[in-house]
Amino acid sequence: MNVTLFGLGYVGSVTATCLASRGHHVVGVDTDPGKVAALNAGVPPVLEAGLDALLVDVVARGALRATDSVRDALADSDVSLICVGTPSAHNGSTDLRQVERVVREIGSVLAGSTRPHTVVVRSTVPPGTVEEVVAPLLEEASGRRIGDDLQVAMCPEFLREGTSVADFFDPPFLVVGGSPGAAAVVRELFGFVRGPVHEVELRSAESLKYACNAFHALKVSFTNELSRLYRLLDVDSREVMEVFVGDRQLNISPAYLRPGFAFGGSCLPKDLRSLLHLARMNCVDLPVLQGALASNEMVVRDVAERVLDAVESGGGQNRRVALLGLSFKHNTDDLRESPNVALAEMMLGKGLDVRIHDPHVNTAMLTGANLRYVHARLPHLQKVLHDDAADALRDAQVVLVSTSDPSVVATVLAAAPPVVIDLDGRLGRSVESLAGYQGVGW
Ligand SMILES: NC(=O)c1ccc[n+]([C@@H]2O[C@H](COP(=O)([O-])OP(=O)(O)OC[C@H]3O[C@@H](n4cnc5c(N)ncnc54)[C@H](O)[C@@H]3O)[C@@H](O)[C@H]2O)c1
Repeated sequence: MNVTLFGLGYVGSVTATCLASRGHHVVGVDTDPGKVAALNAGVPPVLEAGLDALLVDVVARGALRATDSVRDALADSDVSLICVGTPSAHNGSTDLRQVERVVREIGSVLAGSTRPHTVVVRSTVPPGTVEEVVAPLLEEASGRRIGDDLQVAMCPEFLREGTSVADFFDPPFLVVGGSPGAAAVVRELFGFVRGPVHEVELRSAESLKYACNAFHALKVSFTNELSRLYRLLDVDSREVMEVFVGDRQLNISPAYLRPGFAFGGSCLPKDLRSLLHLARMNCVDLPVLQGALASNEMVVRDVAERVLDAVESGGGQNRRVALLGLSFKHNTDDLRESPNVALAEMMLGKGLDVRIHDPHVNTAMLTGANLRYVHARLPHLQKVLHDDAADALRDAQVVLVSTSDPSVVATVLAAAPPVVIDLDGRLGRSVESLAGYQGVGW
């Protein structure tokens, strides 16, 4: 393909060189004349292992050249890749001016042509940027409509500085957001990539990059927080973490990474509190772990507020709310520190007429700590607990579903209540098609 690549920094120079080495014809554009001259001389504008040898080869073969002229760079181009910087502004927001300028420049050159062209954003941009900034600017500057001949896509870059050439050829996956036509162009461009290809919504492609970087940052901070405490407790955190990462079932795995409701149960909150207590005793701040508890409480509060809003927007007369699923986890009757119990408590406190059903909870069967916990938090559980899901949700304005138990799902479907808030995420297409359906985090 004939590719025009904007921004010859860390991402752009590696991308341009690697694409040229795989048979594409690439023209790079940068506003920095030093980078343009360096690239044309076969000298990498950035220091990256393996880049110099590849670059010398592709420049010598005429597969890659650089220019500061956008018109020249787009003369025979099929695809534009935007790899310019998206730095932080003073308030933390993303400064999109480099992206906007490039899109305007591309648009004004495309204005005179009917040649099909796809604009692919590789820079990291906030969700909504391609739809709300890139596409309208491109249409305005080119006088053309986004459609079959002019397409936009988001294809985030996952390379890491220092190993970027190796990462480029062996990414964890290729992700592309955009129309099927735009996705086909990106697939063709990166046809040599071995990993899986995910075609997703534009906003998902944009959001994914932030999710990855936030998770990586969280992993580092999590580990270093534990280390700061463990050192004082005479624990070698290197030994702990070496074993920790060996657990591919729970620790380094998809476990606990499915969007849904708050965590709870008899271990996670208790043990987090215990760690935080140890930290206080040793005068160590653990803001990430502290934040985990605070963030978890916010999930519950946020749902309670959404329920109140739904009741108000239904006129406020019908204050009946059904909570389906009370235990902290599927297929158990353990209510200890269940976020569903906390939610029920909150909603009862707001004067809502709460009715509860859980296929696994029977007050006559509760014993020990489980019984004591629920007595302390929901002393009137017996009165609000219904053995039959249909009874619990009869005439309810809002139904909260915290279990994907098939009998519960079938009852929700049959009742089709005005508002269904899904706290589980596995209720299935039919429930998700109900008019009043909302996901807790989607
Ligand atoms: N650096 C990384 O490891 C990495 C990894 C993945 C994604 N990203 C993302 O990729 C994007 C680029 O990052 P980077 O580290 O390569 O940035 P960089 O600052 O190294 O390079 C950006 C380049 O764009 C050029 N530029 C600015 N305006 C231009 C214009 N109008 N026309 C042509 N060129 C222009 C600059 O001169 C510079 O050479 C960012 O959004 C970044 O968040 C970076």
